[in-house]
Amino acid sequence: MKVLLTGGAGYIGSHTCIELIKAGHTPIIADNFDNSCPEVLNRIKEITGQEVRLYELDVCDGEAVDRMFVENDFDAVIHFAGLKAVGESCAVPLRYYRNNLDSTLTLLEVMKKYGVQNFVFSSSATVYGVPERVPLVEGMPTGCTNPYGWTKLMNEQILTDASAADSGLSVVLLRYFNPIGAHESGRIGEDPNGIPNNLMPYITQVAAGKLKELGVFGNDYPTHDGTGVRDYIHVVDLAVAHVKAIDYAAAHKGTEIFNIGTGTGYSVLDIVNTFMRVNDLVIPYSIKPRRPGDIAECYADPSKAAEVLGWKAERGLEEMCRDSWNWQSHNKNGYK
Ligand code: NAD
Ligand code: UFG
Repeated sequence: MKVLLTGGAGYIGSHTCIELIKAGHTPIIADNFDNSCPEVLNRIKEITGQEVRLYELDVCDGEAVDRMFVENDFDAVIHFAGLKAVGESCAVPLRYYRNNLDSTLTLLEVMKKYGVQNFVFSSSATVYGVPERVPLVEGMPTGCTNPYGWTKLMNEQILTDASAADSGLSVVLLRYFNPIGAHESGRIGEDPNGIPNNLMPYITQVAAGKLKELGVFGNDYPTHDGTGVRDYIHVVDLAVAHVKAIDYAAAHKGTEIFNIGTGTGYSVLDIVNTFMRVNDLVIPYSIKPRRPGDIAECYADPSKAAEVLGWKAERGLEEMCRDSWNWQSHNKNGYK
């Protein structure tokens, strides 16, 4: 299939691009490099031997998107493009609503015009809000605590309504849990701007000597060691889920939601200890107060994805820690 990857130069999109090529598909990337670098295209070529066509554009720009659809007969769209920093979304909510909603609306309108019927969307476990219980199942109540999360939930609603109104449209909503790790080559990986907000890039930057110590946000949660528990998933496993999702979309109509996680929760200290052991490194850390908005535990019941998509995460925590460090240690300043 010829697949448009909006935001395909980013962390998850670039890994998905490689898995799509491996599966015999033809990905095309549209990205405005708001949170990524053109260098990733060279790296993808190095890994796959294939040049991926790039459109440098803003997905909210209807005319530019229309021109791209005129030039390409897409079979499917995977919509990764979006702003994703929770804290920033509270500071500049309108920017988040404009970018994350307009991009989806623009794509849906242009797809309708050109008869493109398969849409896969990057949603997030954040749409479960403060969960009543874990593991999380797709039918559980949703609710958000910040504008970023609301953009994900609103997008889910927009896409569900669009597919209900158009019997030809197929929508797959993938609720990602916590992606970490990198391609085993160490040539592509996560390259956050500034000081990372997320746990794994913070740890790798401490390991690289760029940051002094890790702050562990809270050790008084009702978890096995008091620190927050999440469902960390290797980004390559997550990428493979998209290959399954486009196949599913092409064969079914309507909207389907899938949790994309491993089903296992690990605490912050589990991650730190595994990272130190696997990479033979010391990560200095100290306990800090809880981070506002954090929840104690969040992990998936991924059985629907296994049964319906035939997808299951295959890579364990040790591989996630090893591959995260392999990327960071060989690319001290990311792609720069
Ligand atoms: P990323 O920032 O690395 O990638 C997003 C890409 O989209 C970037 O390359 C950015 O330049 C591009 N982009 C943003 N707005 C754009 C626009 N208007 N037009 C064109 N390009 C645009 O993020 P990621 O971690 O790869 O996440 C991909 C998607 O998955 C996002 O929608 C994110 O919200 C979602 N998600 C991520 C996580 C996570 O922890 N990484 C978890 C759940 C969901
Ligand atoms: N943590 C620390 N120190 C840090 C960073 C994080 O102790 O410096 C802890 C957090 O308190 C939490 C865990 O590590 O317990 C994971 O935190 P992350 O920031 O890596 O991830 P979150 O689960 O908070 O959020 C991530 C994405 C969200 C997304 C959510 C669910 O950042 O965008 O996963 O998919 F919505």
